[in-house]
Amino acid sequence: MIGILVLFTQSNAVICSSGTSRGVRNPVAQLLDSGNLVVRDEDDLIPENFLWQSFDHPDSTFLLGMKTGLVTKGLYVCFSSWKSINDPCQGNFTFEVDINGLQMYLKQNSVAKAQSGDGIEFGLAYLRAFDLWEVVETGRDPPTLRVDPTVAQIKHHSKECAKKYKALSCLHQVVSNVIFVRIIACETTKEAWDKLKEKFHGSDK
Ligand SMILES: *[C@@H]1O[C@H](CO)[C@@H](O)[C@H](O)[C@H]1NC(C)=O
Repeated sequence: MIGILVLFTQSNAVICSSGTSRGVRNPVAQLLDSGNLVVRDEDDLIPENFLWQSFDHPDSTFLLGMKTGLVTKGLYVCFSSWKSINDPCQGNFTFEVDINGLQMYLKQNSVAKAQSGDGIEFGLAYLRAFDLWEVVETGRDPPTLRVDPTVAQIKHHSKECAKKYKALSCLHQVVSNVIFVRIIACETTKEAWDKLKEKFHGSDK
């Protein structure tokens, strides 16, 4: 058995797979309490031996225990947008540590579009790339679910609801400590963003 994790559509078409693996006796997938989805041999609990783990392929959510940059085993981990709304494979945007310097870069098709030294502009580019800008701009909750929603509608709705927390946590990650303490009390991303604008531009930008 090889232990490759594959995501199928309802009609059994492959959306994406975790790629190459190695032979193990009995591969299992497990969602750990940390939020890390791992594929491992049933009897092997040693993290270094995991066949695959979602923490090596983050998108827009940074959880405690995740690492970015050059992590173990010569593995370079960066945050990446999805290929499309239904396809979680790596998309065109990445958020990554520059190995040579101490900056974070937002790249589109490997070309740097913004860097952490750019401060507020960087945060803006980041939120746009990860499809989170709308919640910041409007500050609105998504429309409530209609009566008798389908499973797809429920999923879509909870994803939309989660966006405001994602956006706020993204903003927290990209700003400096000095700025962070100013916006930590803000409950919505819009509130935090308005505060940043006030501080840096004095007006809309
Ligand atoms: C990603 O970039 C490629 C190459 O520039 C382009 O063809 C494709 O449409 C882009 N995908 C999205 C979702 O923007």
